[in-house]
Amino acid sequence: MTMDRPFFVTTPIYYVNDLPHLGHAYPTVAADALARFMRLDGRRVKFLTGTDEHGQKVEQSARAADVSPQEFADRNSAAFREMDRLLDISNDDYIRTTEKRHIRGVQALWRELERRGEIYLGRFAGWYAVRDEAFYDESELVEGKAPTGADVEWFEEDNYFFRLSAWQDRLLDYYEANPEAIAPRSRRNEVISFVKGGLKDLSISRTSFSWGIPVPGNPKHVIYVWLDALTNYITAIGYPETESADFGVFWPVAHHIVGKDILRFHAIYWPAFLMAAGLPAPRRIFAHGWWTVEGQKMSKSLGNGVPPEFLVEKYGVDPARYFLLRELPFGNDGDFSHRAVVGRLNGDLANDFGNLAQRVLVMISRNCGAGVPEPGTFEATETALLDSAHGLLETVRAHVSEQAFHWALEAIWRVVGDANRYVDEQAPWVLSRSDPGRMRTVLYTLAETLRHLAILVQPFVPGSAGRLLDQLAVPEAERCFTALADAPLRPGTRLPKPEGIFPRFVEEAVR
Ligand code: MSP
Repeated sequence: MTMDRPFFVTTPIYYVNDLPHLGHAYPTVAADALARFMRLDGRRVKFLTGTDEHGQKVEQSARAADVSPQEFADRNSAAFREMDRLLDISNDDYIRTTEKRHIRGVQALWRELERRGEIYLGRFAGWYAVRDEAFYDESELVEGKAPTGADVEWFEEDNYFFRLSAWQDRLLDYYEANPEAIAPRSRRNEVISFVKGGLKDLSISRTSFSWGIPVPGNPKHVIYVWLDALTNYITAIGYPETESADFGVFWPVAHHIVGKDILRFHAIYWPAFLMAAGLPAPRRIFAHGWWTVEGQKMSKSLGNGVPPEFLVEKYGVDPARYFLLRELPFGNDGDFSHRAVVGRLNGDLANDFGNLAQRVLVMISRNCGAGVPEPGTFEATETALLDSAHGLLETVRAHVSEQAFHWALEAIWRVVGDANRYVDEQAPWVLSRSDPGRMRTVLYTLAETLRHLAILVQPFVPGSAGRLLDQLAVPEAERCFTALADAPLRPGTRLPKPEGIFPRFVEEAVR
């Protein structure tokens, strides 16, 4: 397998003031599917996630919990790691902004910006929303609150500023020269029109609290939490050692998965900080949409946060992952409802894919001596089904490279549908008596189609796909995408006893 063509994917780093919920699981699962896909496609992948631990919001939450900010961060960061474990997340690194490697990198970036004349000391007077850790203009407020609905407070203090206003044209050039850098397109257009509206210099330090990275040379100030947090994407790959192997390999191919609420920070501030420090802007930033739960906004006060352990215990890890990636076009908003999950689970997973696999494997086990059958001549129907399976990689790859996970899954399930129609038309259970040779051809065609489906579905539902590949006796070394064309099932291979892969969800009786 070739190990060149590097790929770097990141999730947002999560604030430790909150415990993990569906809204955090979403970008993590999406980034995981992307990372797994690229690995199976022979690419050298780095997949980074972690926690955002500084700032006023975390400091206030720690105080309310009556523990030190560090203790508080330790506890909640561990909860995000546990989310990753529960959701079968294959991250290669996990960064915490309280780690030495990060602090050192952020301070180095600060010094570099200062050295290049991008930072000056001034006086800030304006509105700040602790919940968003963001500054707002008077003109942006809606009925005295931030446009996000967060409470704002007026504050005035001596702050360091970053010359963001000077970067307006260079940001517009970056968007122009890299039409794929910000996605989806509608979000890109929003960013461009915001930047065209004019940028003000950005306050990048605070003096009224201390839970943050000290400004080098003036430790009365702590560095603005967004400058601190965004920098995780480079401190994790070795910054400030820009000559380091990881930095050189992975930074040019950075893909950030973020929510639409934090796109402005990623698509405007972040490229400006980077360019101002003489570094390239990210390759791509994809902004996904927001989930409501049973029609309502997720909120602490409603207590409708959907923790990852609920998802996994109730539906199972792979069904939950599948639902998140299949239900919404990545980029759109949508609703998480029990009904919708059960619909997908019993429809797409249990009925369509699970049943197909079960029927085929049970028939092989009963009628072919529990081994891969020897096919006879392929007729047009077999060739048509196998061709659609063989064509899948290219289609799925095109969708995944645009983060259109829903289209990728839809394409895979189109072949699931073709295979189901083929079984019904060919009725191998009838052929078992009338024409066993033909039955073996049909079952081989189906098993080979299942092998393609199972290999391609691995990034999305890794555990279930792995179990199906076990049942097809596909060795570990033949589960990557090159094996799709190179390693067809070998007639005569012994197959283990079939077991269902996607059980139906049965509603518990209401007592
Ligand atoms: N710490 C910052 C990110 C810094 S990245 C350099 C932050 N953290 S967060 O924990 O508040 O949010 C992390 C991500 O969770 C955001 O991308 C946000 O969009 C996502 N979600 C939180 N609630 C969500 C939903 N209800 N639905 C979908 N995603 C949501 O912001």
